[in-house]
Parts: sequence; structure tokens; C-alpha cells
Amino acid sequence: MTTTDGRISLPLLPPDHPLGRSSITCEYRCGNACSHEAPNTSDNAYFGDVVRSIVSRRGMLKAGAVLAVAGAGVAGMAGTAAAHPDHGGHGGGDGRPRGPKGLDFTAVAPNREDRIVTPEGYHNSVVIRWGDPVLPGAPAFDFDNQTAAAQAKQFGFNNDFCGLVPFGHDRWLMVSNHEYTTESAMFKGFSQANPTEEQVKIGWAAHGLSVVVVERERRTGKLLPKVDRRYNRRITVTSEFEVDGPAAGSQFLRTTADPTGRKVFGTLNNCAGGVTPWGTILSGEENFNQYFANAGSVTDPVTKTRLTRYGLAGAASTRKWENFDRRFDVAKEPNEVNRFGWIVEVDPLEPGSKPVKHTALGRFKHEGATIQIARNGKVVAYLGDDERFDYVYKYVSKERYRPGDSPSARAHNKKLLSDGTLYVAQFTGDSPATEFDGTGKLPTDGEFDGSGKWIPLVSGDKSFVDGFTAEEVYVFTRLAADKVGATKMDRPEDVQPNPVNGRIYAALTNNTDRGKPGKEGPTEINPRNGNKHGHILEWEESRGDHTALTFSWKLLLVCGDPATADTYFGGYDKTQVSPISCPDNVAFDRHGNLWISTDGNALGSNDGLFVVPVAGRYRGYLKQFLTVPLGAETCGPVIEDDFILVSVQHPGELDGASADNPLTHWPDGGTAQPRPAVAAIWKSGCRIGE
Ligand code: FEO
Ligand code: CA
Ligand code: CA
Repeated sequence: MTTTDGRISLPLLPPDHPLGRSSITCEYRCGNACSHEAPNTSDNAYFGDVVRSIVSRRGMLKAGAVLAVAGAGVAGMAGTAAAHPDHGGHGGGDGRPRGPKGLDFTAVAPNREDRIVTPEGYHNSVVIRWGDPVLPGAPAFDFDNQTAAAQAKQFGFNNDFCGLVPFGHDRWLMVSNHEYTTESAMFKGFSQANPTEEQVKIGWAAHGLSVVVVERERRTGKLLPKVDRRYNRRITVTSEFEVDGPAAGSQFLRTTADPTGRKVFGTLNNCAGGVTPWGTILSGEENFNQYFANAGSVTDPVTKTRLTRYGLAGAASTRKWENFDRRFDVAKEPNEVNRFGWIVEVDPLEPGSKPVKHTALGRFKHEGATIQIARNGKVVAYLGDDERFDYVYKYVSKERYRPGDSPSARAHNKKLLSDGTLYVAQFTGDSPATEFDGTGKLPTDGEFDGSGKWIPLVSGDKSFVDGFTAEEVYVFTRLAADKVGATKMDRPEDVQPNPVNGRIYAALTNNTDRGKPGKEGPTEINPRNGNKHGHILEWEESRGDHTALTFSWKLLLVCGDPATADTYFGGYDKTQVSPISCPDNVAFDRHGNLWISTDGNALGSNDGLFVVPVAGRYRGYLKQFLTVPLGAETCGPVIEDDFILVSVQHPGELDGASADNPLTHWPDGGTAQPRPAVAAIWKSGCRIGE
């Protein structure tokens, strides 16, 4: 279902959900995070407080406006046509003007179809699905007779991030995160109150990551998985990880099973991630809290505060893993939960290497991590903490990147995330606070924009936060960031630098709590109360230096229905753009266009993948490239010149759906159970969007 480029009509909103996610997704993916109190109850600075502190510190006041604190970066950032070479408008061979580079396709209209919908002329096919063989000896998938032993050799459930590491001509190592399991969709007759041991162990084996060799078949253009004996790999809830960095061995990480605090079994809720310049994969442990039971029984006030700030409360967990492994019971093993919530690094090129948990990048609900090499060779990791009212972080390495892929260069680079400085972001707007009433109305200067600074939290064994040791900053990072005036954001998801223009883009997916009684109200950077549709933030480090401590920022998109007044598309004509809701993952093509995938479309359409130019006259001209099947989320986009990969996560995860009552049959059709999968999209003989 496609339309021409004109105004695109929307399907009706579903009546029963404030947001587009089904209640099953909410329960299994993040433990109903949104139905609980947002864990950030700190009295961290409100916008007005920031104004006052700036004024008193600097003795400056500009007609009631919030002053720019970043200085150098502020004037440097411009997103207008005048400031950038035009992307498009170049004449075609036929003399007619053309649109922006990489966007030459007809936008896909919002829809509720049970298939992948792409622009005309594009093909799509499944690369690998839940249960497909990864390791040699993996049995064929048998939904009705699944076992933990089979699952440990097969592709896991609910794949999210997808990354490609080049591995020869038309050959890659594809790494997928398996964020979570939905047991009610995996087992017929499933009893949530009383899962069997085998079901729980299948769940453990269906989490984690998969490394799979994939090759492109020249004749068809399809990307096909190989059961490669040497490089294919499954990492699960029982795989051994090494704890790395300054908090390795910490008293907070020691358990009965691991008195050293240096060896962890498993990784949980791996959400987004990034491919490093040295060919490894970073993956964020996100909603790890939901797997741990009985935090509510903890009485020690300090421990309780820490648990609460990470969303741990209550008694039994949803999945009841605590019935089969005592480490998931906080009352029995209080430190086990501290061993999750990290960025993990996996080296797919060294299949025997032990995956690592990097304590230097702090502990929170890590969405993912993406790497930029700064001009001075230091490595910068951009990080988001995906929770309502939580923060954006960055890490700057102490050592410098060593070019090349020699064993010694790789060994050096794999230690760059072990020692450095962790910062949290404070954003300040440049328009008067009185101009933000929560409706999303643009301020009188015509932009949601301003400046900001990176507040240091910890470096090596030195804490910059009063009352916190370095060890405490690493393990209880959220509480440390609360102390220093970090800016409360509307759920920071992917944060990623654009390789073409050097600016950084963050998806702020939504925050329906903004402006509620007792919660922080609208600010220039989070301008809507009850923010259902999210926004896209763009910033530029001062002097374009990724190690800088100041920056300037703008909102590129304020998402939603372009027909409503509360949306903003970079100043572009809103009658020409696609509706978008709940941006989650971001990626870039070779032109520097921003690609955005969505999670939980609250406008009534299936989730999708979009592309938008960020410079020139087409800045803000957002077009929808595809939609995924009913109930699915689009994530993990990989944008190559001539194909795209998307993770089709939780297809058919709709209210009322279960293995006994599947509401979709994607991808296999007929009466088959839905299966999460990686899908490839391409156009024969063409680059994407050209
Ligand atoms: Fe797993 Fe923040 O999405
Ligand atoms: Ca402004
Ligand atoms: Ca995500």
C-alpha cells in the first residue's frame, strides 16, 4: 500500500491503548516499566532551576531568556539550507529537478498489513528466524517439541539490534541481540504462574546474542545464513562473561557463585548496540531489572534506594526464573542484579574469546553504545538510558585508537573501553521557559534549540560526584547522575554519530508521564506534556570535537501526525512528510541521511522504517520506507548501499495473542506460528533509494 508524495491519511487510532504497544509486549519486554512509577524521583534540576543557577553563576541575564552555557558551540550549529551544501535539487539527465539523494522511492503509507510493505520495486526475504540453525548439529525447528538443548544451537527469540562485520566479499558476520522472550507465544498452554524447568531453560537459551555467517547470493540478491562451524556462535544466559574495567572485582559485584566479582554468567535484555571500528559488537543490557524477584523484601535502606532507582521492587518475577536459579532472587543473592545493566562487547572475529562487560561505561538501562573516533584518536562512546526521565551519557577513552587490524592493534583497541571518563549530559534551552506550555508549540525564535555541557561523573578511580566513591558511580550510575544536574529526558534510545556531518542524533521515544502531577513539566528539549510520539535530538560537539565538554543542540523532529500543530519536521513542509511515532533506533546511509525505526506506533499504523535528510533544503523531509507486519517492532536497522536489514521483533504480539491463538502467521504463512526474524530488503541492480 503506497501513496504518492502528497498528504498521507492515517488509520484510526486503536481505542484501547494510550501507546501503540500491546500489553503482552509491555509485560515481557520491559516488565511493564511504563505502568510503574518512573524510577527517577530525584529532585534533579527543573528547567527553571537551571536558569537560576546559570544566572547566578555567570551574573548574566538576557531578557528573561535562558542563557547559552556552552558558548563556542552555540553559534556553530545550523541546520538550515543556507548553512549546508544542498543535498538535492540536482538536475536529472532529463532536465527535471530531482529530490534528495537516497530518497528516490514512493513513501509507504501507514497500514495494518500482516507483511513487510516496501516501496514498489523492492524485494524482501527472511535472512534467519527464531529457531533456525546457528550451530552445527542444531535440529530443525519444531515448535511443539522445543528443547533447551535445541534452542542453545538455534537463533534466539525477539532479535533486536543487528550488526554486520565484513568478512570477505559479499560475506559478513551478522550479530543479533535477542532482547527478550515471550513465553506465551513460545509455548502452547503456557502457565505464567507455573512455568516448567524446561520452558525456563529454553527462555535462557533464547536470550543473548547470535553470531551467524551470512552470504549474499549474487543470482537472487538474497542474504543467506551459513551454519559455519568456526565462527557461528550463541551467547545465552548461561555463557561466561569477564567483568572488565575499574569496577571489576567490586564488592557490589561479588556473589556466592563468584566471590571474585569478575565472572558473570549471561547477559540479559540486550537491546540496541553498535559495531566498533575494531570489528567488535557492543550491546546494551536494558530492562534487566524485570528478571529479578523479591527486591521488595529488602529492608536495608541504602540497598533499597539503589534497587528502587533501577526499577526493582515487588515479589515474584514475571518469568519465575528464581524458581530454578537462586541468583535471580534478590533476597538470596543481593548482588547478582548488579552484574547486569552494562555494555557488553563481543568479538565475532575471535570466536573463542570471552565476551566482556565494561564497567567503565556505567550501569543503567543501557539502550546501546555507538563509537566515534575523535580527532585526537580518543574513542568516544555515546550512550542512552532508556527510561522515562533518564539521561544521555558519553564516555571518552584515556588511550587512543590504533588503526589497522593487526592482532596487536585489535588487542589494544579492545581495551579502549576499559579506562576513560564517563560524563552525563545537561541540556539548556535558549528560549524563555515561559514559551513552553507542554503543547509542543514552537518558541518565538522558531527552533527548539540551545546548548549543553558534559558533566564528568568518574574517571579511573576518581569520582567527581560528592558522596560517591568511584566504585559507586560505576555500579549505581543513575544515582550519581541524579546528584549533578543531568537533564531528565523522554526515554533516550539510540544515540549515534552521523559519519557524514559529525553530529550526534538521539531518539527520544516517548514519555507519557511528562507534565503529570509531581513530574517534570515541559522544557525546550522535551517540549510536550504526555509525549506520546517522541522526538529526534541532534547535537554538535563544540568545534566538532567529540571529546569537547560543551555542545549545541536542536530538535530535528517532533514526531506524530504532521497534520497536528504539536509536530515539527526540521522546518520542512509538513504536508509532504510521512507520519512517524516512537522513534527508537537510528542509522545513517552514505549520504548522511538519518534512518529511523519505530517501536510502538501510537498513530495506529504498524511500526516502520523512515529516512530523513538532515541538511540542505530537504532537511526534515521524512519518508517512510517500510512497515513491518502486525504487532511487530522495527529495529536493528542496517543500512548498506544496496540492501537493508531490519529486525522484525515480536511479530503478532497483540493483545489476546498466544501460541494457542496466534494472530499473525508471519513469516511462514498458513497456520504457522509467528517467528521473530531478520529480514533483508533490496532492489535488483540498484542502490537503496536511488
Ligand atoms: Fe529495548 Fe529501549 O528499547
Ligand atoms: Ca529556541
Ligand atoms: Ca530499542
